Amino acid sequence: MSPEKHADELLARIRVHGAIPRHVAIIMDGNGRWARERLLPRPLGHRSGMQSVRAVVKGALALGVEWLSLFAFSQENWQRPATEVGALMSLLEEYIAREVDELREKGVRVRVLGDLERLTPAAAAAVDRVIRDTAHNDRLTLNLFISYGSRAEIVRAARLLARDVAEGRMSPDDIDEEAIAARLYTADCPDPDLLIRTSGELRVSNFLLWQIAYTELYISDVLWPDFGRRELYEAVLAFQGRERRFGRVSA
Ligand code: FPP
Repeated sequence: MSPEKHADELLARIRVHGAIPRHVAIIMDGNGRWARERLLPRPLGHRSGMQSVRAVVKGALALGVEWLSLFAFSQENWQRPATEVGALMSLLEEYIAREVDELREKGVRVRVLGDLERLTPAAAAAVDRVIRDTAHNDRLTLNLFISYGSRAEIVRAARLLARDVAEGRMSPDDIDEEAIAARLYTADCPDPDLLIRTSGELRVSNFLLWQIAYTELYISDVLWPDFGRRELYEAVLAFQGRERRFGRVSA
């Protein structure tokens, strides 16, 4: 059976079950290994990974997922060789240039979350453009996490709260979980229902540490450039088989 037909069959099974995760988050990992296995330079692994981003957005739209969060570039990634960082920035620009029209037409709202001050001017301009051009859409929100680290995000929230207290807008006793969540980049998103990590690594790598408190985790052994619609649907089928208790006893 062709991979596309297999994916359609999995989609039909998911629909029979009915429970679709509202928010899917993905740690896209394994581009480097994918390239190494083929004796290719690492940036070509990232380029292939861009095709997987396309496939997963398509898959999420077909499923009716409302929020898709992709970890595209971590704060730690700035420490990679300049050529690789440059290649990733260029890919981000290329992805936006190639996809913006289709994303807009398909009802995808794109947002870019992280410390955007560090982006190259060209990448920052591309990011501004895609955010502006898709802001009115509401079928699927695609959160691209770029130059993002979860601990830094929490530190930023703490500073914002400290400022609100220091300037008399709130008292220390007003600080609760909601007040912290409201100062994260993800303030207006529901927490992820499902977090997928590819390439078999069993880590969360400083991604959405606050937000994944009750998220179901799914580790795929597939390297990101080989991850597509079919693999996304396999993850969702596994999610549908889980019993989510949020710390309570089972029914
Ligand atoms: C991890 O693989 C992946 C990244 C650091 C970058 C993710 C980027 C993309 C998927 C392509 C561009 C995305 C967009 C949204 C345009 P790794 O390099 O750490 O792989 P390794 O662990 O095998 O070395």
